[in-house]
Amino acid sequence: MEKTFLMIKPDGVQRSLVGEITSRFEKKGFKLAGAKLMVISNELAEKHYGEHKDKPFFGELVDFITSGPVFAMVWEGENVIGTARQMMGATNPKEAAPGTIRGDYGVIVGKNIIHGSDSQESAEREIGLFFEENEVLDYQKDE
Ligand code: CMP
Repeated sequence: MEKTFLMIKPDGVQRSLVGEITSRFEKKGFKLAGAKLMVISNELAEKHYGEHKDKPFFGELVDFITSGPVFAMVWEGENVIGTARQMMGATNPKEAAPGTIRGDYGVIVGKNIIHGSDSQESAEREIGLFFEENEVLDYQKDE
């Protein structure tokens, strides 16, 4: 079954949105396969955001994502990668539709509440960066 990596960023944790956001994915019908509250090291942040290393905001991005606890998660379900991205809304909260997570809770692009993998390849890579194999659980969940 398809899996994705989602991470509530330091702004989402600070604003007490962990319950609200995880609840949206639970109610949608996806299965939580792994989760942990953690502070990301600079090394992990630079690996995770490696594709943005030449962008002018890279330093700001790494500083922000390492600035406080994040809530890292693995979610499982049919088409979970694409559906989770729809539920998160556009990267820039100014363009994110009302009803989406960023549309409802975000204002600026640097503090856009949540990160989600954008493809199968990035999901596999990001899950591997943040979780040990035994931290991603395989269990039966009733529909
Ligand atoms: P995310 O989905 O985590 O992936 C890369 C992040 O870069 C993105 O969300 C934004 O939070 C951040 N980002 C994109 N554009 C900018 C920008 N112009 N200034 C600061 N951060 C940005």
